[in-house]
Amino acid sequence: MKRIVLCASTRPEMIKMAPLYLEMKKREGLETILMSTGQHKEMLYQVCEAFGIKPDYDLEIMKEKQDLFDITTSILSKAKDFLNEVKPDLVLVHGDTTSTFVMALACFYLQIPVGHVEAGLRTYNIYSPYPEEFNREGVGIISQFNFAPTQLSRDNLLHEGKNESTIYVTGNTVIDAMQHTVKEDYTHPELEWVDDNKLIFITAHRRENLGEPMHQMFRAIRRVLDEHPDCRAVYPIHMNPVVREAADQELGGCDRIHIIEPIEVFDCHNFEARSFLCLTDSGGIQEECPSYGVPVLVMRDTTERPEGVDAGTLKLVGTDEEVIYSTFKLLLENEEEYKKMANACNPYGDGHACERIADILEGKEYKPWEPTVLIR
Ligand code: UD1
Ligand code: UDP
Repeated sequence: MKRIVLCASTRPEMIKMAPLYLEMKKREGLETILMSTGQHKEMLYQVCEAFGIKPDYDLEIMKEKQDLFDITTSILSKAKDFLNEVKPDLVLVHGDTTSTFVMALACFYLQIPVGHVEAGLRTYNIYSPYPEEFNREGVGIISQFNFAPTQLSRDNLLHEGKNESTIYVTGNTVIDAMQHTVKEDYTHPELEWVDDNKLIFITAHRRENLGEPMHQMFRAIRRVLDEHPDCRAVYPIHMNPVVREAADQELGGCDRIHIIEPIEVFDCHNFEARSFLCLTDSGGIQEECPSYGVPVLVMRDTTERPEGVDAGTLKLVGTDEEVIYSTFKLLLENEEEYKKMANACNPYGDGHACERIADILEGKEYKPWEPTVLIR
């Protein structure tokens, strides 16, 4: 029996790893252990509860306003004892968080094979998103199994010289998670408040946007909402106190926006599906909204998810107040422009990614010593 540690330490990692964990638990050839570094606390356990699961180990590293040094050093010092105790045959990490990178690094130091779920997403700008682009490129050097969600992410890995035999196109596990969330008869008090008005769905948390960029984002949103009485915005706010301070300063007192606590993933998908428009700097939401034909203004300079941009559903607007203001306003006032973006598309998978990954993990041998990158 192969012992696999599955790491999921932040909200999006758990949303995308939970269906994989549930699938792997069904497999007789796999002993699957769920662990979290504890980078997130409340936001992680909210997802666990929604899926009815609980980490077997939690390194509990989170502290208020943690910086990248805090996260990196506290995980690295605890991961060694954890991995030496559990002795996994393989560790599965997800995406691009600092937990993901540091757990992969710890595995490399202990010569434990690593599998990377959601491999090959790239902007090729290590400062955008920051530090995520560096994190996922770093994991890409280490990992022996690369589960790429799309052909494009596979091509990125091949162009980097990754050994072809390590790459599997599986689809994104978020589509597996989404299969059971959106319901026709869903209702929520916030949706009743929105009533027949246009629902504008907002999220924001990116580290490179903290400070002036985030203030500009919020000011632009405030100006548009003030001018459009037919809009109601719902903003489930991230728990980062720095985000909360900025939102309070720029959006406080606006009666067309409800800033609420983080919502359950099932609520989040149902809110997204009923939105007129979404403004976000999140990664995962860029994958989810296109499936519902909901236009997304991505408040970032780059995206690692160009499939949605190519399909017309996502538009990169950066963080400049005037650009966000004019693009948001245009979509509310010009039906033609809105229709151009409201295309339902789902380039990210068929909802069977978890089965494919579990099949591969059950069927293949793990070889820590095989070169993972062929050319440099
Ligand atoms: C992290 C990831 C980011 C991912 C995001 C998903 C890094 C560097 N960043 O960013 O890639 O997109 O998670 O949401 O890996 N906090 C709580 N409770 C929680 C979670 C966070 O109070 O459950 C507060 C804490 O004060 C914490 C702060 O939020 O210090 C920031 O959390 P952190 O994980 O460092 O950054 P995120 O912006 O969440
Ligand atoms: N999400 C959620 N509740 C919220 C806000 C977001 O469940 O209040 C979900 C959302 O559906 C998506 C994921 O969290 O699946 C995105 O997480 P986040 O924006 O924190 O991180 P990112 O995707 O940018 O790494």
